[in-house]
Amino acid sequence: MQVLPQSSVLGAELRDIDLSAELSDAQIAAINQALLDHQVIFFRDQQLSPQQYNDFARRFGQLQDYMFVDGLDGFPYITEIIKTENETESFGSFWHSDSAYLDIPPKITMLYAREVPERGGDTLFADMYAAYEDLSPGLKSSLETLKAVNSASVVSRDEDIYTEVKSKNSDKSDQSAVHPVIRRHDETGRKALYVNSIHTLRFDGMTRAESLPLLQYLYARVTHPEYSFRLRWQPDTLAMWDNRCTQHYALNDYHGYRRAMHRIIVAGAKPC
Ligand code: SIN
Repeated sequence: MQVLPQSSVLGAELRDIDLSAELSDAQIAAINQALLDHQVIFFRDQQLSPQQYNDFARRFGQLQDYMFVDGLDGFPYITEIIKTENETESFGSFWHSDSAYLDIPPKITMLYAREVPERGGDTLFADMYAAYEDLSPGLKSSLETLKAVNSASVVSRDEDIYTEVKSKNSDKSDQSAVHPVIRRHDETGRKALYVNSIHTLRFDGMTRAESLPLLQYLYARVTHPEYSFRLRWQPDTLAMWDNRCTQHYALNDYHGYRRAMHRIIVAGAKPC
């Protein structure tokens, strides 16, 4: 397997591996190591049935139900993320780390491109190790003891905006969890910034108005171009990213075209 880094911070293409094959434990460990080293990895031209996709994902941990979208028939952990030709709203078009409002957020998200527009619909990724490491010593030590309330209610959930996505639980937007603002990655031991603009409501023990000035400063750091990598999808590209140390943003720049992705999330540990 070849590992081809895509930027000086994050992102790597992995070549010469067929994910539909029976992969050995050593191959899975090598893929996991590439993910730890590069935070976002992707594979082109993968031909996977839903069963093969599910089985591949399962090698990285317990699969997690996505609380706001139903899975495919027979494959409850594979959710479809679809924007049709007639829609203008797009899922995930904000900088975020997935489902930070859960006590145990997913450590890994996988996205498998089924239909993509000829151009547009890329996903941007940002390195939250770098966003943390470049802060001043003073701000790092102030953030070290802070926790934040992450809630599913920061952006509204309207079940009717996606015509083909099987949305559910829009009444559960009060789902929330308190997590450290700086989290230590449970496998690499490195520290990463863990607040994001669509899930973080406020610092624990403070009001949203008190929290927002510093949160907005931190969100601006997240979007620093030097911390980013842009994935251009092709049909049959499969990407995996590490939610413990990255954020991502689905570009919504392809109105009039259809994009359909199959998404799986893999459970992690409680952030600490
Ligand atoms: C997501 O936010 O999980 C989906 C990202 C994308 O569709 O590119």
